[in-house]
Amino acid sequence: MKNTGGSTDQKRRAGESAAELVEDGDVVGLGTGSTAAHAIRALGRAVDAGLDVRAIPTSFQSRQLALDCGVPLTTLDAVEGVDVAIDGADQVDGFTLVKGGGAAHAREKVVDAAADRFVVVADPSKLVDDLDYPVPVEVLPAARPPVSDAVRDLGGDPTLRAAERKDGPVVTDNGNVVLDCDFGVVDDPAELAAELSALPGVLEHGLFVDMADEVHVGVADGVDVVRR
Ligand code: A5P
Repeated sequence: MKNTGGSTDQKRRAGESAAELVEDGDVVGLGTGSTAAHAIRALGRAVDAGLDVRAIPTSFQSRQLALDCGVPLTTLDAVEGVDVAIDGADQVDGFTLVKGGGAAHAREKVVDAAADRFVVVADPSKLVDDLDYPVPVEVLPAARPPVSDAVRDLGGDPTLRAAERKDGPVVTDNGNVVLDCDFGVVDDPAELAAELSALPGVLEHGLFVDMADEVHVGVADGVDVVRR
């Protein structure tokens, strides 16, 4: 379930702005989605022009795009650390995010959390005062019934994410399914994040609590940057 607001130009400005932060020799985390894709394309152009980077993709999609753009790839077990990660979001409230509209949030969280500098790229439609986007929860297929019950006990309304152009559910890059869990306004993201993480069978949820270091928002005439 994607938050599809925002224009292509706004997303492009945000992605290109974040890509400019990458320095020679950096290890870069590559987020997933239409906004992060602009950063990957910009990195590809920079690599063509001589920039030396190694990148860690967070999904099939970002890996394939990086390959298409000529961005050299690596893995977390082959590097000392991640200098910067660039990733999109479905909602942004300060430095806390809801992610997972593309079902890539598990690998995204691993790479984004490992980065010294986690840069979010977004368009203005993603900025909110209160997080109320349904929280994607990646679940082992066999754990779907008990996790659904537990989400209801926490006050949420879980919906199994359905695939498009395939019968049945979305299956993640990790072979799991996704429950989009509508909690209305999330008053205490840290508390809900901890409760979801504690459920057996949950691989990862899309609440990224206070994780971002900076947010680049593409606007009509440039980019608004907010840093900690
Ligand atoms: C992928 O699972 C998501 O976390 C994306 O990063 C998020 O949906 C943002 O995607 P867009 O940039 O396409 O809106």
